[in-house]
Amino acid sequence: MIAPIGSANLPTAQAEPSPLQDITIVSDAKLTDRLPDDLPSDPMHWADAWLKEATAAKVQRNPNSMTIASVAADSQPSSRVVLCKDFVPDPGYLVFYTNYRSQKSLEWTVNPRAAALMHWDSLGRQVRIEGTIVRSPEEESDAYFASRDWGSQLGAWGSDQSETIASHDALVSQIRQRAANLGLTLDPDTQTLADDNIPLIARPAHWGGFRLWATAIELWIEGKNRVHDRARWQRDIVRTSAHTFSVTPWTGVRLQP
Ligand SMILES: Cc1cc2nc3c(=O)[nH]c(=O)nc-3n(C[C@H](O)[C@H](O)[C@H](O)COP(=O)(O)O)c2cc1C
Repeated sequence: MIAPIGSANLPTAQAEPSPLQDITIVSDAKLTDRLPDDLPSDPMHWADAWLKEATAAKVQRNPNSMTIASVAADSQPSSRVVLCKDFVPDPGYLVFYTNYRSQKSLEWTVNPRAAALMHWDSLGRQVRIEGTIVRSPEEESDAYFASRDWGSQLGAWGSDQSETIASHDALVSQIRQRAANLGLTLDPDTQTLADDNIPLIARPAHWGGFRLWATAIELWIEGKNRVHDRARWQRDIVRTSAHTFSVTPWTGVRLQP
């Protein structure tokens, strides 16, 4: 299947039906949802279940999208959306992929703290997760990169994420040049593959996964008349290897909304 490289002014193969047409809207029944009086001891499993529910219910185009914040050396926070590609409730981290030279990645090399936020408006639910950022194991990033289509793989090579560029045209020609370097032959007019011969594309060393190991999590449920339900859990984590931590049990408290 020949796919476009996804540049804004380039033609796409076919208009797809809107993924929002089957959207689920939070119902009155849902607004009676609450966390149990005795707060659960496994909040990451709750968040995982909510993510799975949001995915199954097709509540939005990218139900796994999350805002993630980093903090610069001058204490300025910034946030952006990334896709959560793995949610691991035990021992409790989530995984996303990005360019290791991007603004957020450079900030995490100095201050490896992050805050992630998932919000499913139509389910009336929000999850906040704070914690420590480490890189994913190389072999995990390799396996994920290999599973992606050629257009996404080219994207990782083609864009020097967070760096400036003179124009959109300059970006397109940079991507075309890098595609050629990788042995990809693009059709000059459509930017689709000119033939079905897709070479094996290796993961660039500057692109890969991060794990956000949770030290705090908050679950928020929309309630009737703004009587929302809200609880926050905390725990300690101690580094045991480049990618892993040992963890203490979660302790939770209910918060006023
Ligand atoms: C829905 C959506 C999903 C995105 N997913 C990712 C992602 O998984 N990884 C990524 O690096 N950027 C992703 N982006 C782009 C980021 O929001 C951001 O522009 C980019 O990572 C550069 O951020 P930085 O300059 O702050 O480091 C996504 C944007 C949107 C709107």
